[in-house]
Amino acid sequence: MATKDKLLLRALRGQTATRPPFWLMRQAGRYLPEYRKLRAETGSFLDLCLTPDAAVEVTLQPIRRFAMDGAILFSDILMVPHGLGQNVAFEEGRGPVLDALPDARAIARLSLEGFHDRVAPVYETVRRLAGALPKEVTLIGFAGAPWTVASYMIEGGSSRDFALAKSWIYGDPDGFARLIDLLVEATSAYLLRQVEAGAEALQLFDSWAGALAEPALRRWCLEPAKEIVRRVKAAAPHVPVILFPRGAGVLYEAFAAEAGAAALGLDTGVPASWAAKQLQPHLAVQGNLDPMVLVAGGAVLDSEVRRILGALGGGPFVFNLGHGIVPQTPPDHVSRLAELVRGWKN
Ligand code: CP3
Repeated sequence: MATKDKLLLRALRGQTATRPPFWLMRQAGRYLPEYRKLRAETGSFLDLCLTPDAAVEVTLQPIRRFAMDGAILFSDILMVPHGLGQNVAFEEGRGPVLDALPDARAIARLSLEGFHDRVAPVYETVRRLAGALPKEVTLIGFAGAPWTVASYMIEGGSSRDFALAKSWIYGDPDGFARLIDLLVEATSAYLLRQVEAGAEALQLFDSWAGALAEPALRRWCLEPAKEIVRRVKAAAPHVPVILFPRGAGVLYEAFAAEAGAAALGLDTGVPASWAAKQLQPHLAVQGNLDPMVLVAGGAVLDSEVRRILGALGGGPFVFNLGHGIVPQTPPDHVSRLAELVRGWKN
Protein backbone atom coordinates (compact mmCIF):
# COMPACT_ATOMS: atom_id res chain seq x y z
CA MET A 1 0.00 0.00 0.00
CA ALA A 2 1.41 3.39 -0.98
CA THR A 3 2.09 5.79 1.88
CA LYS A 4 -0.59 8.11 0.58
CA ASP A 5 -3.22 5.43 1.06
CA LYS A 6 -2.64 4.72 4.74
CA LEU A 7 -5.86 5.46 6.60
CA LEU A 8 -4.22 7.39 9.44
CA LEU A 9 -2.17 9.61 7.11
CA ARG A 10 -5.26 10.32 5.01
CA ALA A 11 -7.19 11.50 8.08
CA LEU A 12 -4.26 13.66 9.19
CA ARG A 13 -4.30 15.26 5.74
CA GLY A 14 -7.90 16.24 6.26
CA GLN A 15 -9.62 13.45 4.37
CA THR A 16 -12.66 11.52 5.58
CA ALA A 17 -12.84 7.78 4.81
CA THR A 18 -15.61 5.24 5.39
CA ARG A 19 -14.34 4.70 8.92
CA PRO A 20 -11.85 6.68 10.98
CA PRO A 21 -8.40 5.27 11.79
CA PHE A 22 -7.55 4.61 15.43
CA TRP A 23 -4.63 4.22 17.80
CA LEU A 24 -4.44 4.72 21.57
CA MET A 25 -2.11 6.86 23.62
CA ARG A 26 0.12 4.58 25.75
CA GLN A 27 -1.13 1.60 23.72
CA ALA A 28 2.01 -0.32 24.71
CA GLY A 29 2.47 -0.82 28.41
CA ARG A 30 1.59 -2.49 31.67
CA TYR A 31 -2.03 -3.44 30.81
CA LEU A 32 -0.57 -6.07 28.43
CA PRO A 33 0.75 -9.28 30.04
CA GLU A 34 3.35 -9.66 27.26
CA TYR A 35 4.69 -6.17 28.13
CA ARG A 36 4.93 -7.01 31.84
CA LYS A 37 6.81 -10.19 30.97
CA LEU A 38 9.36 -8.46 28.72
CA ARG A 39 9.68 -5.57 31.19
CA ALA A 40 10.55 -8.02 33.98
CA GLU A 41 13.32 -9.50 31.81
CA THR A 42 14.83 -6.18 30.63
CA GLY A 43 15.86 -4.31 33.77
CA SER A 44 15.04 -0.63 34.15
CA PHE A 45 12.43 1.22 32.11
CA LEU A 46 15.17 3.46 30.69
CA ASP A 47 17.09 0.35 29.54
CA LEU A 48 13.93 -0.82 27.80
CA CYS A 49 13.60 2.52 25.96
CA LEU A 50 17.29 2.43 24.97
CA THR A 51 17.38 -1.21 23.77
CA PRO A 52 16.10 -1.19 20.17
CA ASP A 53 15.24 -4.92 20.02
CA ALA A 54 13.09 -4.65 23.13
CA ALA A 55 11.55 -1.27 22.22
CA VAL A 56 10.59 -2.58 18.75
CA GLU A 57 9.01 -5.68 20.27
CA VAL A 58 7.00 -3.63 22.79
CA THR A 59 5.82 -1.22 20.07
CA LEU A 60 4.55 -4.15 18.01
CA GLN A 61 2.72 -5.93 20.87
CA PRO A 62 -0.52 -3.92 20.70
CA ILE A 63 -0.46 -3.91 16.87
CA ARG A 64 -0.40 -7.73 16.83
CA ARG A 65 -3.35 -7.96 19.19
CA PHE A 66 -5.55 -5.11 18.03
CA ALA A 67 -4.29 -4.02 14.56
CA MET A 68 -4.30 -0.31 15.29
CA ASP A 69 -3.83 1.98 12.27
CA GLY A 70 -0.95 3.74 14.00
CA ALA A 71 2.06 2.39 15.91
CA ILE A 72 3.65 4.88 18.30
CA LEU A 73 7.34 4.50 18.90
CA PHE A 74 7.94 3.03 22.35
CA SER A 75 9.98 5.55 24.31
CA ASP A 76 9.29 8.32 26.82
CA ILE A 77 9.05 12.11 26.79
CA LEU A 78 11.94 12.23 29.27
CA MET A 79 14.34 11.02 26.57
CA VAL A 80 14.97 14.71 25.71
CA PRO A 81 16.27 15.65 29.19
CA HIS A 82 18.33 12.43 29.07
CA GLY A 83 19.76 13.56 25.70
CA LEU A 84 20.57 16.97 27.17
CA GLY A 85 22.66 15.29 29.85
CA GLN A 86 20.27 15.52 32.82
CA ASN A 87 20.16 12.43 35.05
CA VAL A 88 16.85 10.63 34.45
CA ALA A 89 15.75 7.46 36.22
CA PHE A 90 12.45 5.66 36.63
CA GLU A 91 11.90 4.25 40.08
CA GLU A 92 9.46 1.41 40.72
CA GLY A 93 6.26 2.79 42.20
CA ARG A 94 7.59 6.38 42.18
CA GLY A 95 7.65 7.31 38.52
CA PRO A 96 10.39 9.43 36.97
CA VAL A 97 13.18 10.93 39.10
CA LEU A 98 15.51 13.63 37.70
CA ASP A 99 18.29 15.78 39.16
CA ALA A 100 16.10 18.86 39.55
CA LEU A 101 17.09 22.13 37.84
CA PRO A 102 16.64 24.82 40.50
CA ASP A 103 17.09 27.96 38.38
CA ALA A 104 18.32 29.43 35.10
CA ARG A 105 21.99 29.13 36.17
CA ALA A 106 21.55 25.34 36.14
CA ILE A 107 20.78 25.42 32.39
CA ALA A 108 24.59 25.46 31.97
CA ARG A 109 24.58 21.78 33.09
CA LEU A 110 22.64 20.88 29.93
CA SER A 111 24.14 20.55 26.49
CA LEU A 112 22.98 19.97 22.92
CA GLU A 113 26.40 18.59 22.15
CA GLY A 114 26.19 14.81 22.24
CA PHE A 115 22.38 14.92 22.30
CA HIS A 116 21.88 12.71 19.23
CA ASP A 117 24.50 10.22 20.45
CA ARG A 118 22.76 9.83 23.79
CA VAL A 119 19.38 9.13 22.19
CA ALA A 120 20.76 7.22 19.17
CA PRO A 121 19.05 3.93 20.23
CA VAL A 122 15.68 5.69 19.85
CA TYR A 123 16.49 6.51 16.22
CA GLU A 124 17.60 2.92 15.69
CA THR A 125 14.27 1.71 17.10
CA VAL A 126 12.39 3.92 14.61
CA ARG A 127 14.55 2.63 11.75
CA ARG A 128 13.82 -0.99 12.64
CA LEU A 129 10.12 -0.32 13.12
CA ALA A 130 9.89 1.30 9.70
CA GLY A 131 11.01 -2.02 8.24
CA ALA A 132 8.95 -4.24 10.53
CA LEU A 133 5.45 -2.75 10.58
CA PRO A 134 2.58 -4.08 8.46
CA LYS A 135 2.37 -1.87 5.36
CA GLU A 136 -0.99 -0.31 6.26
CA VAL A 137 0.19 0.86 9.70
CA THR A 138 1.50 4.42 10.16
CA LEU A 139 4.63 4.87 12.29
CA ILE A 140 4.18 7.73 14.78
CA GLY A 141 7.19 9.43 16.35
CA PHE A 142 6.77 11.70 19.35
CA ALA A 143 8.26 14.04 21.90
CA GLY A 144 7.05 15.88 24.97
CA ALA A 145 6.26 19.57 24.50
CA PRO A 146 8.69 22.05 26.08
CA TRP A 147 6.47 23.14 29.00
CA THR A 148 5.55 19.61 30.07
CA VAL A 149 9.15 18.39 29.76
CA ALA A 150 10.46 21.51 31.55
CA SER A 151 8.08 20.84 34.43
CA TYR A 152 9.67 17.40 35.02
CA MET A 153 13.16 18.87 34.61
CA ILE A 154 12.53 21.61 37.17
CA GLU A 155 10.46 19.65 39.68
CA GLY A 156 12.72 16.58 39.45
CA GLY A 157 9.71 14.37 38.68
CA SER A 158 5.93 14.42 38.68
CA SER A 159 4.26 17.28 40.53
CA ARG A 160 0.80 18.09 41.80
CA ASP A 161 0.92 21.89 41.68
CA PHE A 162 4.05 22.75 39.64
CA ALA A 163 5.09 25.11 42.42
CA LEU A 164 8.78 25.19 41.46
CA ALA A 165 8.21 25.42 37.71
CA LYS A 166 5.64 28.18 38.13
CA SER A 167 7.72 30.21 40.53
CA TRP A 168 10.44 30.11 37.85
CA ILE A 169 7.95 31.13 35.11
CA TYR A 170 6.61 34.06 37.10
CA GLY A 171 9.80 35.02 38.93
CA ASP A 172 12.33 34.76 36.09
CA PRO A 173 10.53 34.67 32.73
CA ASP A 174 13.72 35.54 30.79
CA GLY A 175 15.61 32.67 32.40
CA PHE A 176 12.66 30.34 31.79
CA ALA A 177 12.61 31.44 28.13
CA ARG A 178 16.21 30.22 27.81
CA LEU A 179 15.20 26.75 29.02
CA ILE A 180 12.19 26.67 26.67
CA ASP A 181 14.33 27.85 23.74
CA LEU A 182 16.81 25.05 24.41
CA LEU A 183 13.94 22.56 24.51
CA VAL A 184 12.47 23.90 21.24
CA GLU A 185 15.89 23.43 19.64
CA ALA A 186 16.45 19.91 21.01
CA THR A 187 12.87 18.75 20.43
CA SER A 188 12.73 19.95 16.81
CA ALA A 189 16.03 18.25 15.99
CA TYR A 190 14.94 15.08 17.84
CA LEU A 191 11.66 14.88 15.90
CA LEU A 192 13.37 15.50 12.57
CA ARG A 193 15.85 12.69 13.26
CA GLN A 194 12.87 10.41 13.94
CA VAL A 195 11.46 11.44 10.54
CA GLU A 196 14.80 10.68 8.86
CA ALA A 197 14.71 7.26 10.52
CA GLY A 198 11.21 6.56 9.18
CA ALA A 199 8.54 8.22 11.36
CA GLU A 200 5.58 9.17 9.14
CA ALA A 201 3.63 11.34 11.60
CA LEU A 202 4.58 13.08 14.85
CA GLN A 203 2.80 13.85 18.10
CA LEU A 204 3.83 16.50 20.61
CA PHE A 205 2.53 15.68 24.13
CA ASP A 206 1.77 18.76 26.25
CA SER A 207 0.15 16.78 29.04
CA TRP A 208 0.23 19.63 31.56
CA ALA A 209 -0.81 22.57 29.32
CA GLY A 210 -3.98 22.89 31.38
CA ALA A 211 -2.02 23.81 34.52
CA LEU A 212 -1.22 27.26 33.07
CA ALA A 213 -3.34 30.44 32.93
CA GLU A 214 -4.11 31.89 29.50
CA PRO A 215 -1.13 34.23 28.98
CA ALA A 216 1.33 31.62 30.24
CA LEU A 217 -0.33 28.87 28.21
CA ARG A 218 -0.04 30.99 25.05
CA ARG A 219 3.56 31.95 25.79
CA TRP A 220 4.92 28.60 27.01
CA CYS A 221 2.72 26.05 25.19
CA LEU A 222 1.26 27.59 22.02
CA GLU A 223 4.31 29.64 20.95
CA PRO A 224 6.85 26.80 21.36
CA ALA A 225 4.47 24.36 19.61
CA LYS A 226 4.11 26.80 16.73
CA GLU A 227 7.89 27.10 16.42
CA ILE A 228 8.42 23.30 16.51
CA VAL A 229 5.71 22.82 13.86
CA ARG A 230 7.34 25.54 11.75
CA ARG A 231 10.74 23.83 11.93
CA VAL A 232 9.33 20.38 11.18
CA LYS A 233 7.36 21.71 8.20
CA ALA A 234 10.39 23.57 6.85
CA ALA A 235 12.46 20.37 6.78
CA ALA A 236 9.72 17.73 6.30
CA PRO A 237 6.59 19.35 4.83
CA HIS A 238 4.93 15.97 4.16
CA VAL A 239 4.95 14.87 7.81
CA PRO A 240 1.79 15.74 9.77
CA VAL A 241 2.17 16.97 13.34
CA ILE A 242 -0.49 16.24 15.99
CA LEU A 243 -0.52 18.60 18.97
CA PHE A 244 -1.95 17.39 22.29
CA PRO A 245 -2.31 20.43 24.58
CA ARG A 246 -4.17 18.56 27.29
CA GLY A 247 -6.50 20.75 29.34
CA ALA A 248 -6.20 23.80 27.05
CA GLY A 249 -10.00 24.25 27.16
CA VAL A 250 -11.32 27.03 24.91
CA LEU A 251 -7.70 27.78 23.94
CA TYR A 252 -7.95 24.68 21.71
CA GLU A 253 -9.41 27.22 19.26
CA ALA A 254 -6.19 29.26 19.35
CA PHE A 255 -4.14 26.11 18.68
CA ALA A 256 -6.42 25.27 15.72
CA ALA A 257 -6.14 28.77 14.27
CA GLU A 258 -2.49 29.60 14.98
CA ALA A 259 -0.26 26.57 15.45
CA GLY A 260 -0.12 25.27 11.86
CA ALA A 261 -0.53 21.63 12.99
CA ALA A 262 -2.24 18.92 10.95
CA ALA A 263 -4.33 17.73 13.89
CA LEU A 264 -5.25 18.41 17.50
CA GLY A 265 -5.51 15.67 20.12
CA LEU A 266 -8.56 16.36 22.30
CA ASP A 267 -8.50 15.56 26.00
CA THR A 268 -11.51 13.87 27.62
CA GLY A 269 -12.98 17.20 28.77
CA VAL A 270 -13.44 18.66 25.29
CA PRO A 271 -17.08 18.21 24.18
CA ALA A 272 -17.03 16.26 20.89
CA SER A 273 -19.97 18.23 19.46
CA TRP A 274 -18.17 21.53 20.20
CA ALA A 275 -14.96 20.25 18.58
CA ALA A 276 -16.93 19.20 15.48
CA LYS A 277 -18.19 22.77 15.05
CA GLN A 278 -15.26 24.87 16.25
CA LEU A 279 -12.14 22.84 15.42
CA GLN A 280 -12.79 20.21 12.78
CA PRO A 281 -13.55 22.73 9.98
CA HIS A 282 -9.93 23.92 10.37
CA LEU A 283 -7.99 20.68 10.93
CA ALA A 284 -8.25 16.99 11.81
CA VAL A 285 -9.05 16.10 15.41
CA GLN A 286 -8.11 13.07 17.49
CA GLY A 287 -9.61 11.68 20.67
CA ASN A 288 -11.16 11.56 23.13
CA LEU A 289 -12.67 8.56 24.94
CA ASP A 290 -12.24 8.69 28.72
CA PRO A 291 -9.59 6.02 29.55
CA MET A 292 -11.75 5.02 32.53
CA VAL A 293 -14.61 4.13 30.19
CA LEU A 294 -12.20 1.70 28.58
CA VAL A 295 -11.57 0.23 32.04
CA ALA A 296 -15.32 -0.03 32.70
CA GLY A 297 -16.22 -1.73 29.39
CA GLY A 298 -19.73 -3.07 28.74
CA ALA A 299 -22.63 -0.89 27.64
CA VAL A 300 -21.01 2.42 28.52
CA LEU A 301 -17.98 1.59 26.34
CA ASP A 302 -20.24 0.85 23.37
CA SER A 303 -22.34 3.97 23.83
CA GLU A 304 -19.39 6.32 24.44
CA VAL A 305 -17.45 5.03 21.42
CA ARG A 306 -20.57 5.44 19.27
CA ARG A 307 -21.28 8.92 20.65
CA ILE A 308 -17.76 10.12 19.75
CA LEU A 309 -17.83 8.45 16.33
CA GLY A 310 -21.23 10.00 15.68
CA ALA A 311 -20.06 13.50 16.60
CA LEU A 312 -16.66 13.49 14.88
CA GLY A 313 -16.60 10.57 12.39
CA GLY A 314 -18.13 12.65 9.59
CA GLY A 315 -15.01 14.84 9.28
CA PRO A 316 -11.26 14.27 9.40
CA PHE A 317 -10.92 12.25 12.60
CA VAL A 318 -8.59 9.83 14.38
CA PHE A 319 -10.23 7.80 17.13
CA ASN A 320 -8.14 7.76 20.32
CA LEU A 321 -8.45 8.20 24.07
CA GLY A 322 -8.53 11.56 25.83
CA HIS A 323 -5.37 10.56 27.75
CA GLY A 324 -3.19 7.45 28.05
CA ILE A 325 -4.42 3.90 28.71
CA VAL A 326 -4.19 3.05 32.41
CA PRO A 327 -2.55 -0.19 33.65
CA GLN A 328 -5.81 -1.70 34.99
CA THR A 329 -7.41 -1.72 31.50
CA PRO A 330 -8.64 -5.21 30.51
CA PRO A 331 -7.19 -6.05 27.04
CA ASP A 332 -10.61 -7.50 26.05
CA HIS A 333 -12.07 -4.01 26.31
CA VAL A 334 -9.49 -2.75 23.84
CA SER A 335 -10.53 -5.55 21.46
CA ARG A 336 -14.14 -4.39 21.77
CA LEU A 337 -13.13 -0.78 21.07
CA ALA A 338 -11.22 -1.89 17.96
CA GLU A 339 -14.24 -3.87 16.77
CA LEU A 340 -16.57 -0.88 17.27
CA VAL A 341 -14.34 1.56 15.38
CA ARG A 342 -13.61 -0.87 12.57
CA GLY A 343 -17.29 -1.71 12.16
CA TRP A 344 -18.44 1.91 12.06
CA LYS A 345 -19.56 3.31 8.70
CA ASN A 346 -19.84 6.92 7.65
O1 CP3 B 1 2.00 5.66 23.82
C1 CP3 B 1 2.84 4.73 23.87
O2 CP3 B 1 2.53 3.52 23.97
C2 CP3 B 1 4.33 5.07 23.71
C3 CP3 B 1 5.07 5.13 24.91
C4 CP3 B 1 4.97 6.30 25.88
C5 CP3 B 1 5.36 6.15 27.24
N1 CP3 B 1 5.29 7.37 27.84
C6 CP3 B 1 5.78 4.89 27.87
C7 CP3 B 1 5.82 4.80 29.34
C8 CP3 B 1 4.62 7.64 25.69
C9 CP3 B 1 4.08 8.32 24.44
C10 CP3 B 1 4.84 8.31 26.92
C11 CP3 B 1 4.62 9.76 27.12
C12 CP3 B 1 4.76 10.32 28.46
N2 CP3 B 1 5.66 9.99 29.43
C13 CP3 B 1 4.02 11.43 28.92
C14 CP3 B 1 2.99 12.19 28.10
C15 CP3 B 1 1.72 11.47 27.96
C16 CP3 B 1 0.90 11.36 29.19
O3 CP3 B 1 0.59 10.23 29.59
O4 CP3 B 1 0.52 12.42 29.75
C17 CP3 B 1 4.45 11.72 30.22
C18 CP3 B 1 3.91 12.82 31.12
C19 CP3 B 1 5.51 10.82 30.54
C20 CP3 B 1 6.35 10.79 31.77
C21 CP3 B 1 6.23 9.51 32.48
N3 CP3 B 1 6.72 8.31 32.01
C22 CP3 B 1 5.65 9.29 33.75
C23 CP3 B 1 4.98 10.34 34.59
C24 CP3 B 1 5.81 7.94 34.01
C25 CP3 B 1 5.45 7.24 35.30
C26 CP3 B 1 3.98 6.98 35.39
C27 CP3 B 1 3.66 5.63 34.82
O5 CP3 B 1 2.75 5.54 34.00
O6 CP3 B 1 4.33 4.69 35.24
C28 CP3 B 1 6.43 7.33 32.90
C29 CP3 B 1 6.78 5.90 32.74
C30 CP3 B 1 6.27 5.21 31.50
N4 CP3 B 1 6.31 5.72 30.24
C31 CP3 B 1 5.74 3.89 31.44
C32 CP3 B 1 5.46 3.62 30.09
C33 CP3 B 1 4.94 2.34 29.49
C34 CP3 B 1 5.60 2.95 32.61
C35 CP3 B 1 6.94 2.41 32.95
C36 CP3 B 1 6.92 0.98 33.42
O7 CP3 B 1 6.69 0.06 32.60
O8 CP3 B 1 7.20 0.76 34.60
